Amino acid sequence: MASQLAGRLRQGTMAAHTQAENTAFMKCFLKGVVETEPFRQLMANFYVVYGALEAEMDRLREHPAIQPIYFPEIQRRQNLAKDLAFYYGADWETQAQPTPGGLAYAQRLKELAQTQPELLIAHAYTRYLGDLSGGQGLRNVVRKALQLPEGQGTTFYEFDAIPTIEAKKAFKDKYRQALDSIEVPEDIAVQIIEEANVAFRLNRQLTDELEGALRAALSAEDFARFTAKETPGSTEPGNENAMDNLVKA
Ligand code: HEM
Repeated sequence: MASQLAGRLRQGTMAAHTQAENTAFMKCFLKGVVETEPFRQLMANFYVVYGALEAEMDRLREHPAIQPIYFPEIQRRQNLAKDLAFYYGADWETQAQPTPGGLAYAQRLKELAQTQPELLIAHAYTRYLGDLSGGQGLRNVVRKALQLPEGQGTTFYEFDAIPTIEAKKAFKDKYRQALDSIEVPEDIAVQIIEEANVAFRLNRQLTDELEGALRAALSAEDFARFTAKETPGSTEPGNENAMDNLVKA
């Protein structure tokens, strides 16, 4: 019997998602406070993370646990390379270096690919469904805050193959169905949900490492003001349209 992973992943990471939205970095982000240095550092980290995830998924594309969620059209590494060239210049490959959190995250992905490839499902879910959801609002925030030139600096958040909000919703449904079609033994299903929580933690580590750079760019009063309020989580029941204002912004 299929393992019904989509609903279990959503439910099983709801608390982690709420926490992710309430880090100082994300709270400032949502208030429109984005600084170039920490933002480009985040993209540099994502480059090693997606680089590892996508290289391993390419290699494992025939694996029964990976094949159903292998969608090359959502891969991010080429878009990240474009953004890094924009932020760091032509020699971005030497300039853009990951932080320890980025390296640890990439290392975890490579390790899983060798030992338990099914657990990569958790990582693909956490990043790609996130990018296709909240990521769309975050794109608009970044563009406005950094006053980016047309067509540059946010290709990470842009999906040429899935351009509209409707297409993204349809794709996410397709992705959830694909997740639901996967059959794994129950103990592995439980581990996949646990690993998704690890994925959220690894993401949190990335933004926590950048908090210092953000704090340095703000006055202590502004930082305290922007980070004071807890927001309810976007994947909690009844709160699904929380991003609507940002998406339209
Ligand atoms: C300020 C930060 C964030 C905001 C505002 C946000 C917002 C949202 C929204 C509005 C949804 C759609 C909920 C729905 O379809 O019902 C969503 C889904 C999701 N987000 Fe986030 N998000 C944020 C951060 C993150 C982070 C850091 C991650 C993980 C790295 C993440 C991963 C996900 C995932 C995996 C889903 C899909 C949930 C599911 O339907 O199974 N989000 N997010």
